[in-house]
Amino acid sequence: MKDDRQRQTPFFTKLKEYGQSGVTPLDVPGHKLGRIKNDLLDFTGANMFILDSNAPLGLDQLAKPVGIIKDAEKLAAQAFHADHAYFLVNGTSVGIMSMIMSACRASEEIILPRNVHKSIINGLILSGATPVFVHPDIDSDLGIANGVQFEAVKKAIETHPNAKAVFVINPTYFGFTSDLKRIVDLAHQHDMQVICDEAHGTQFYFSDSLPISAMDAGADMSTTSVHKTGGSLTQSSMILTKGSRVDHVRLRTTINMLQSTSPSSLLIASLDVARKTLYFEGEERIKKLVHMAQKAREQIRGIPGITVIDKKYVMARGGISFDETKLVIKVSDLGITGFEAYKELRRKFNIQLELAETHLILAILSMGTTKDDLDHLTLALKDLSRRYYKIRKTLPKIKFNYQFPASYSRPRDAYHAPKLQVKLEDSANEISGEMIMIYPPGIPMVIPGEIISEEVLEDLQFYMKNGSVIHSEMDNGYVKIVDKEHWQKWEGEDSEI
Ligand SMILES: Cc1ncc(COP(=O)(O)O)c(C=O)c1O
Repeated sequence: MKDDRQRQTPFFTKLKEYGQSGVTPLDVPGHKLGRIKNDLLDFTGANMFILDSNAPLGLDQLAKPVGIIKDAEKLAAQAFHADHAYFLVNGTSVGIMSMIMSACRASEEIILPRNVHKSIINGLILSGATPVFVHPDIDSDLGIANGVQFEAVKKAIETHPNAKAVFVINPTYFGFTSDLKRIVDLAHQHDMQVICDEAHGTQFYFSDSLPISAMDAGADMSTTSVHKTGGSLTQSSMILTKGSRVDHVRLRTTINMLQSTSPSSLLIASLDVARKTLYFEGEERIKKLVHMAQKAREQIRGIPGITVIDKKYVMARGGISFDETKLVIKVSDLGITGFEAYKELRRKFNIQLELAETHLILAILSMGTTKDDLDHLTLALKDLSRRYYKIRKTLPKIKFNYQFPASYSRPRDAYHAPKLQVKLEDSANEISGEMIMIYPPGIPMVIPGEIISEEVLEDLQFYMKNGSVIHSEMDNGYVKIVDKEHWQKWEGEDSEI
């Protein structure tokens, strides 16, 4: 039975009323509800500007909601099976950093997989928490890292009984999950919080055909990018919480520390309305979407040289479950890399994929995906197969480094250490002072405090040759390394190196 209260959109409704009330706007923003004509206004029309106001009287405040934002968050909590929801306007990145900072103080341990998004590493730097990395499952056919085995987490919990939290990705960028329910139960037995990255998991809350959501598994906190698959505007996300282990005062303080003091009302409104649609239409539409994705897989599976990942593939490799709304498509058996396929599909067919990796391409589907979209993708893949399969004699040199670099110090220590700039090729065996990655997926190949290995340098060369943009602090072929000679524990620092 659906709850009729979910038909309300408290924030959006009042925001519209305010924008249309003929108010005299002697506050910011300076466009004064769209009075300054510009190209954007010409294109979008004034309505977008009318909705862009900055916490006027009656519209509540995101940093301390007591009125309609609080009401909208309560509805969101109910829709997402949580006790509390915190709206965010700086993406899941801010949610992840806030969750980590609320759960761990400097030097306290947190158990987490190494294949995390850069925001988690930033959370480690800001909090000073000590990571206990669990090695994820590696799929060497696809060249990606997936979920973590329950046994590996169990071992980490048993060998680090004082850890404060266990961090789980639910699901990874590629749709793989870990045995979340068992991990939650075990972590709670050891009085540890479970924090989830559900940047790619919004749809889990509205469908039984998808993996279990963090809140349903009993996790303490999770952040979900409603903007990625739930239909709200880019940058709008939510922290969801459940149970009594969460320190809400600390969580609120850290959110307010990291988030803008001028939160976008458009983004808040978009969370309010996306929640309503997901609540009433999500179940039916995601069911249809999963069915459509399965049909598309059947079509794609028959294309020579192309493999598409499905639940059967995942289960056969010891996986727990799989998000079927992610189309992970291996193209390297055609003799081309995912990077080449990604560019060709855009150039020739105007198909924009989510990302490419060495072996594969990734398409992300949502309630907004149509059958025509998937037919178009199938057609384009057939074209790729016709042009490359058995024609290219040499397979691309496929590179995937199965070992993450060894860790020398906490990320925070290396972040604050004195640094030297050296050429990338001269940095082997040095301690990295920064994160280096390709984006997307934004999973750092090296983080501050890790030893830069020869393998990582080879991988970086490979990615650069294939046209990937390397994200690092330096953009001129240099990298920041720790200046070991001058690295002293600074006054007040809280851990040994
Ligand atoms: C796995 C994962 N976690 C977290 C994030 C951060 O989310 P957001 O872009 O909403 O800040 C991303 C972004 O791509 C991601 O892929």
